[in-house]
Amino acid sequence: MSEEFKTVAVTAAKQAGHLLISNFGNLQPAQIETKTKFDFVTWIDKESESRIIDIIQHSFPEHTIYAEETRRDEHGEYRWIIDPLDGTTNYIHDVPVFSVSIALEHKRNILLGVVYDPNRQELFYAERGKGAFLNDHPIHVSSISHMDKALLATGYPFRVKHLIDEYQQSFKQLFLKSSGIRRAGSAAIDLCYIACGRYDGFWELDLKPWDLAAAFVILQEAGGTMTDFSGGNAVLSTGNTIASNGHLHSVLLNAVRDVFKGIVEQ
Ligand code: 2AM
Ligand code: CA
Repeated sequence: MSEEFKTVAVTAAKQAGHLLISNFGNLQPAQIETKTKFDFVTWIDKESESRIIDIIQHSFPEHTIYAEETRRDEHGEYRWIIDPLDGTTNYIHDVPVFSVSIALEHKRNILLGVVYDPNRQELFYAERGKGAFLNDHPIHVSSISHMDKALLATGYPFRVKHLIDEYQQSFKQLFLKSSGIRRAGSAAIDLCYIACGRYDGFWELDLKPWDLAAAFVILQEAGGTMTDFSGGNAVLSTGNTIASNGHLHSVLLNAVRDVFKGIVEQ
C-alpha cells in the first residue's frame, strides 16, 4: 500500500508541476483574484488542485481531502493535505520560485509528504520512518551549530501585517546573529532546503496546514525539527512555525518566543 501512496503522490505532484510550468509567464491581470487582502488565487491554482484531487480520488476514492482552494474535508482515516501552488505571489509576478505540496495524513499523523519544485525539477519526498530524499538520493539537515555560520530563511507576516514591529524585532535579533537571511516566497521550498542542508533555520507566522504538512515529515525524516513558537508540537494548527537543523533550534526559539509571547498563539 505504501508504494501505491508514494506513486500517487509523486505522479500528482509532477503532473501539477507540469501544468504550472507550461502556463508560467502567461497569466493576464484579469485572471488574478484576491481571496483576502494580499492573498491571491488564479485559475492555475484551481486547475492544479483539481488535477491533483482527480488523481488521488481515482486510486483512493474513500480518502478525504484538505486542499487550499476547494475542499476542506474533516479528518478521515486517511486525508490528503494539498497546496496546488505554493508561491502564488511569485507565480503571478513571473518569479520562478514555487512548488506543489502534497501530504498524506493517517489517523491525524503525517505519514508521507512530497514537495515538487518544477523549475529545478527537484522532488523532495519522505515517508515516516523511512528517511527523506531529493530526487531519490537520501538527504540530511546541515551540521551547523553556530548561528554565525547559519543561513536562515523566513517569510514576512503578510496575513498579520499589524505584527510587523514584533516581526522586525525577531528579524533584527536573528539578522545580527546569523550569516544571512533569505526570503524566497514558497514556505514548502524553504523548509525542504533545511531538510537537504541548504538552509539551517526558518521562522514565519500564520502559515497554513497545506504550506507545512508535506515539508513537516520531510524535515523530520531528514533529522530536522519543526515546532510552534513555544517549542511545542502544535505547529500545524497554529501555523506559527520555527524550523531548523535541530542544533540551532533553541537560538531561533529564544529569538522568537519572547517577542510574540501573549501576542500570538504560541
Ligand atoms: P501560497 O502561495 O500557497 O499562498 C510564504 O510567506 C507563504 O505564504 C507561501 O508559502 C505562500 O503560499 C503564502 N502566501 C500567501 N499569500 C502571500 C503573500 N501575499 N505574500 C507572501 N506569501 C504569501
Ligand atoms: Ca497555494
